[in-house]
Amino acid sequence: MNTEKSIPDKVIDEIIEKHKGKPGALLSTLEEIQENNPFKFLPKETLTAVAKKLNIPYSQIYNVATFYSFFNLKPQGKHTIIVCRGTACHTKGSKELLEDICRTFAIGEEDQEAEQFFTTPDNLFTVRTVACFGQCAQSPVVEVDGKIYSNVNSRKLIKILEDVKKSDLKNN
Ligand code: FES
Repeated sequence: MNTEKSIPDKVIDEIIEKHKGKPGALLSTLEEIQENNPFKFLPKETLTAVAKKLNIPYSQIYNVATFYSFFNLKPQGKHTIIVCRGTACHTKGSKELLEDICRTFAIGEEDQEAEQFFTTPDNLFTVRTVACFGQCAQSPVVEVDGKIYSNVNSRKLIKILEDVKKSDLKNN
């Protein structure tokens, strides 16, 4: 599978046309293009194509894509796990949860430190951290595919990940 692949030019054109002239057009355009990418990211070729088509400098597009945290410049996994690293969650063991995830997916410590997030080699999971979910009373807190899980411990977390994998196998 080619993870660097952009979405087809025709689709980019349609999305640009749809948002043309509307307030926040560039953000909406990039957001929809990312949503259409099978790996939920904006490859360099896509940013270049959008800059050309909109006749704006590449640097402007790049600045927007790097400023907003919801844009991804690297391929994302099919499922997203977000572990809170805030103080309340940290004291209740979120670091250990993160380590458990890394052990489960055989991700080295260097990788965890080097990246703000990492994606498993099979592109099934992207793991990232967040400063606080604002639900400190329920710490430690983990979000999986947009669903918040509170008072998470290792056993609970492994069960959640196994369930995600199972439902994935069932749907394929
Ligand atoms: S520190 Fe984790 S939810 Fe606030």
